[in-house]
Parts: sequence; structure tokens; C-alpha cells
Amino acid sequence: MTTDGTEAGQAEIVELDADAYVTAIPGLAALLIDAVDGGASVNFLAGVTDEETRAWWTERIPQIADETITAFVARRPAPRADPDTGCIVGSTLLIRSRNPNARHRAEIAKVLVHRSARRRGLGRALMEAAEQRARADGRWLLMLDTQAGTAAEALYRSTGWQELGTMPNHSYRTDGVLTATTFFWKDLRD
Ligand SMILES: CC(C)(COP(=O)(O)OP(=O)(O)OC[C@H]1O[C@@H](n2cnc3c(N)ncnc32)[C@H](O)[C@@H]1OP(=O)(O)O)[C@@H](O)C(=O)NCCC(=O)NCCS
Repeated sequence: MTTDGTEAGQAEIVELDADAYVTAIPGLAALLIDAVDGGASVNFLAGVTDEETRAWWTERIPQIADETITAFVARRPAPRADPDTGCIVGSTLLIRSRNPNARHRAEIAKVLVHRSARRRGLGRALMEAAEQRARADGRWLLMLDTQAGTAAEALYRSTGWQELGTMPNHSYRTDGVLTATTFFWKDLRD
């Protein structure tokens, strides 16, 4: 568990077990909506609803339970909030390959930091938590992708990720315009 160490933030990075994950779904859904509202290309288009984002996180409960996926959140204590929910201001997922020929490989996804909490080191701290867990599990080869030319791309470049390449027209932006996606990889043995 780490904190971002800023007066405004004081968020801690927490690995969620299955029960905590279920409890966190409303906060994760709100976080995902905030990312889309901010223009991030993270599966959804502008106008995504709470129902749709809750469903996205809910669909992953079985994979959280069987530890295919490990979820990390950045959680800020909120005075009147349920202490188990807190105020979720960041997330990331470590998604392990289940293929017998890829036991060393995992993906990183849903690296999100709430707009109110950005540029305080939370994105970096979430990545470090996921990478630390991957290394401990023997998942030394990591992959991820993100919309080209974004803050996320800058984050990955600044944390030692290698660019594999950029694919034009890979995904729709939140405003419905096709845009490029950059693919990255990282070998944790390096
Ligand atoms: C990408 C994102 C997670 C970064 O979170 P964050 O907490 O603001 O990032 P950090 O404060 O840890 O930044 C770490 C480094 O990344 C880089 N970085 C982060 N945001 C940046 C920006 N807007 N512009 C340029 N570089 C940036 C910088 O090198 C930064 O280090 P510095 O602050 O010392 O200069 C956040 O902007 C976000 O949620 N974006 C929308 C969702 C998204 O696109 N996620 C990726 C999906 S794959």
C-alpha cells in the first residue's frame, strides 16, 4: 500500500480481493464515466451510462474471483463514505493470460485516474503496484495499448514501456471519430 503523499490527494493504492472488488464497483463505474467524460478512449463513447459502466466491471467478477484479474485502486478516504468504498480516484487491472503457452504474460488495462487527482503520481503508483504483483507472480512480460498521443502514452513512456507500434483507425474516440492506438510492452526482467 502506498500513498501519493500530497495534501490534496492522500490516496492509498489498494489491491482488491473479490469482496472488496464487488463493493468498489459503484466507485469504479463513476471513475470510468469520468474518464470517458474527459475524452479518454477506454471502450466507451460519450454519453456512457452508469448502468453500462457498472456492467463492464461486474462482468469481470468471475475473473477477479479466480485471480485471472487482479484489480488495484487508488482510494482517498472520504469523511462520510463507507470506509470499504472510500472515494475511488484511480484504478488498474492486471489481466493474466490463461493460455498454457503464455503463463509468463499479462496485460495491464483500465489505468484510470480521476480528473480531480491527476499529475500527483497516482498513475505511476498504480502501474508500480500492478508491475510489482506481476513480477511476484512470474508474469514478467506485460502488454498494454492506449490511444496515441495521450497523457497515458506519456505515462507509459516515462515508466520504461517499449513502443511496439501504432495502428491507425484502431478505435473510436469518445466523439465517434476513428483514432490510432499505440501498443506497448515491458519485460520486467530488464
Ligand atoms: C494517464 C493517466 C492514468 C495518468 O494518471 P496521473 O495520475 O495523472 O499520472 P502521474 O501523475 O502518475 O504521471 C506520471 C508521469 O506520466 C506523464 N504524464 C502524466 N500525465 C501527463 C500529461 N497530461 N501530459 C504529459 N505527461 C503526462 C509524466 O511523465 C508524469 O510524470 P511527471 O508528473 O513527474 O511529469 C490519467 O491521465 C488518466 O486517467 N487518463 C485518462 C484515462 C486513460 O487514458 N487511461 C489509459 C487507458 S489505457
